[in-house]
Amino acid sequence: MNSIEQKQQQIETTMRLAPVIPVVVIDDARAAVPMARALVAGGTPAIEVTLRTPAALEAIRAIAAEVEGAVIGVGTVLSAKDLLAAMQAGARFAVSPGVSPRLLDAADDCELPLLPGAATASEVMHLLERGYRHLKFFPAVPAGGHKLLGAWASPLPQVRFCPTGGISLANAPDFLALPNVICVGGSWLTPADKLGAGDWAGIERLAREAAALRQRA
Ligand code: 3PG
Repeated sequence: MNSIEQKQQQIETTMRLAPVIPVVVIDDARAAVPMARALVAGGTPAIEVTLRTPAALEAIRAIAAEVEGAVIGVGTVLSAKDLLAAMQAGARFAVSPGVSPRLLDAADDCELPLLPGAATASEVMHLLERGYRHLKFFPAVPAGGHKLLGAWASPLPQVRFCPTGGISLANAPDFLALPNVICVGGSWLTPADKLGAGDWAGIERLAREAAALRQRA
């Protein structure tokens, strides 16, 4: 079993692949492979497929098996059962909107690296105690945006974030300019209309724009 420190290093490596991790809600698993190929071609190879639709696990399986260069992750992980199902489907990392003691215990016993969500300084401190230095800040904009996250850089300098929730191409630079942000996450790269229409060139274009954003931390 990899230690929490090793798993956090894997998460950091994944966070450094590109300035944006696309967050995907997928309704039709047949869209998974061409969508992931477009995201990889556009320069955003770490992809989070959320467990919000019945097609999600099949989509993760297909991307893991068929899309070279993709680092496929699972999002909206709420339980030990979700972690196990994601690992069996071939996910390489997991993301949760927040944490519970049971989810953290399950993550300790699981090879899959977890990027857990936090929205308050107390949640960040709790996760530091459990060995996590790489966190998702969620929901980033409603919870306080780049001003709140920037205010944590001084008292909590050892923590690096992937803010997600309300991020767009327009406001991503405010977050990416912070010393405690490695990358951001967002669903704007894979909008439902483009997924539904099979507009892979359009998705690749959105990924390319996102990949051109500057990373600082
Ligand atoms: C997430 O799961 O991280 C968010 O739902 C993504 O938020 P967005 O749709 O505002 O990008």
